[in-house]
Amino acid sequence: MATEGYEKLIMDLKELRLPAMADMLDSYAKQAASSSMSYVDFLSVLVSEEVSRKERRSIENRIKSARFPILKSLDDFDYAFQPSVNRKKVEELSSLRFIDNRENVLFLGPPGIGKTHLATGLGVKACESGYKVLFTTLNDMVSALMASMADNSFPSKLRTFIQPSLLVIDEVGYLPVSKEGANFLFQVVAKQYEAGSIILTSNRSFADWGEILGDSVIASAILDRLLHHSTVFNIRGDSYRLREKKKLMGKEEKENSQHY
Ligand SMILES: Nc1ncnc2c1ncn2[C@@H]1O[C@H](COP(=O)(O)OP(=O)(O)O)[C@@H](O)[C@H]1O
Ligand SMILES: [Mg+2]
Repeated sequence: MATEGYEKLIMDLKELRLPAMADMLDSYAKQAASSSMSYVDFLSVLVSEEVSRKERRSIENRIKSARFPILKSLDDFDYAFQPSVNRKKVEELSSLRFIDNRENVLFLGPPGIGKTHLATGLGVKACESGYKVLFTTLNDMVSALMASMADNSFPSKLRTFIQPSLLVIDEVGYLPVSKEGANFLFQVVAKQYEAGSIILTSNRSFADWGEILGDSVIASAILDRLLHHSTVFNIRGDSYRLREKKKLMGKEEKENSQHY
C-alpha cells in the first residue's frame, strides 16, 4: 500500500475511534496481498477485530464498575469439596435467566463455605453477558446510604444500588444493623423487587433476621419480597479456608509421627 494512503487510512481509523482496525491493518493487508482474500473478507476480519476488542473492553469496564472485592470464577468452584452445593442449580443459574426473570438468589451458611465465591462467580458471568452489576456488603451499602443522608444525596445514592440489573449484597448477618440500616435494606429490596435481581449471602438463618435487623416486622417484609421469586442455597459443610490449614497440619502430624 502506498505509504501516504496507508498513513491517511491509519489516521482516519483513529479519528473514527477504530484503534484495533488501525493496529491490525498492516498485518491483514499483508495477509490479503499474499492470499486470495476478497475485499469483503479483508474488511470483515478487520471489523471483527474492532468488535471483539470493544466487547472485551466493555466486559472489563462492567467488571470494574461492579466492584467485586476479589474476582472469582464459577469454573474454579470445587463441588467435590462442598457437596451440599447443588451443582445443577448453579449451572442453571449461570444461564442468567434468573436476571431476565428478575429473580433472586440467596446463599446461606457458615463462614468459608464459598458464599462470596459463588455470588461473585455469578456476578462476573453477568458482567460478561452484558448486565450491569454492583457488588456491596450490607454494611458498606448501609454506610453509603447513611452518609448520603447528610449531604442530601440519598435519592441518587439509592439509585446506584437499584439501577443495576443485578445487585449482590454480601455478608448479611455478620454485623448488627441499626434501625435506619434495616430501613435502607427494605427500601433497596422493595425497589429492586420484580425490577431487578439480588444475590444475597448470609451466615444466619432466616429465623435470625429479626434479631440482625432489630425489627421482626421489617425483617419479614424484606424476606417476603426477597423469597417470592428466588433460589435458596443452604450450604452445610467445612470451611474451605481451613482446608489448606488442615492439610498442612495433617502433613505436620505425619512428619512428627515419623520421628517416633
Ligand atoms: N468449594 C470451593 N471451591 C474452591 N474454592 C472455594 C470453595 N469454597 C470456598 N472457596 C474459596 O475459599 C475462600 C473462602 O470462600 P468465601 O466464598 O469467601 O466463603 P464465605 O463467603 O462463605 O465465607 C475463597 O478464597 C474461595 O474462593
Ligand atoms: Mg463471604
